[in-house]
Amino acid sequence: MGMRILGWGTALPDRVVTNADLEKTLDTSDEWIVERSGIRQRHIGESTAEIAIDAGRSALSQAKVDPASIDLMILATTTPDQSVPATSAHVHHELGLGGGAFDVNAACAGFVYSLVMANGLLGSGAKRILVIGAETLSGLTDWNDRNTAVLFGDGGGALVLESVPDEGQLLSWDLGLDGSARHILHADLGGFIRMDGREVFKRAVRVLVDSATRTLEQAKVRADEIKLLVPHQANIRIIQAACDRLGIEHDRAALVLHRTGNTSSASIPLALVDAIDHGRLESDDLVLFSGFGAGMTWGSALIRWQAEPDE
Ligand code: COA
Repeated sequence: MGMRILGWGTALPDRVVTNADLEKTLDTSDEWIVERSGIRQRHIGESTAEIAIDAGRSALSQAKVDPASIDLMILATTTPDQSVPATSAHVHHELGLGGGAFDVNAACAGFVYSLVMANGLLGSGAKRILVIGAETLSGLTDWNDRNTAVLFGDGGGALVLESVPDEGQLLSWDLGLDGSARHILHADLGGFIRMDGREVFKRAVRVLVDSATRTLEQAKVRADEIKLLVPHQANIRIIQAACDRLGIEHDRAALVLHRTGNTSSASIPLALVDAIDHGRLESDDLVLFSGFGAGMTWGSALIRWQAEPDE
């Protein structure tokens, strides 16, 4: 038993905050932000549930499935709307989903964690699972702190998955965590994100490369066989350094961070759907997702793409 991707969708709040907007309130410049991170703008606004509902609705409609036929919804988010109940309760109700739902917080690796979990559940009885990554990092951002304010944004992305009797599209995966690094990127309850940027950068490249390599090895796939790397969208320089070490040309990485900033668990589905919309994937292409984040968590998943959900 395995999983098949039936549909996908994304959501970004309407309000766009450009680097030029940030120049007005912070001691920073468009030039610095673009050169050091690759980010030009980010979307801000709405609640995590509203973004998740938009992304989920769009994926369900593309998959042409009845929301009531969903067995389970997994919402990856680091920025829930409240402590209790889980944000997934709101999303589940508004979308009219069947089955259960819960939130997962694995920071920026949350979408890959959720995808791998969904794959396991689809192999043990679940028929259809909706996986959503949705975030409102704007609420965790100290807009007076130039070290972090220039990096983050809000957004969401979703995939509808169905169980299939064969191996399915997920070929191999790797999940991990090094809790001894939890202090380098954190937000206390009620507080803002604080980060040792250089340390996060260094470790991010390392865990991305190691996790991606383990995932490729498991499936006996070489890096040059990968059509598209869909990395967590934190910093263009992290992505390019990881590509160099993996032996993947820069233009084989999916990128949306220039227009979204770092949207944590939403960033991988946002980058994936952007690549699909630009016609970058065909049936049988190998796609490697790789995320990393606070914790530090990491997660990679190798997918064999299927061009049309209803093919
Ligand atoms: N605008 C202008 N200058 C800034 C700035 C900003 N927004 N933010 C920091 N600076 C300054 C620093 O104060 C420092 O000045 P100093 O040399 O006088 O001390 C200088 O720029 C260089 O800072 P440094 O931290 O070395 O820059 P960097 O090249 O490492 O880039 C980050 C900073 C944050 C962009 C980079 O470290 C990064 O992306 N780290 C990973 C963060 C991340 O991905 N987090 C999420 C993980 S899921």
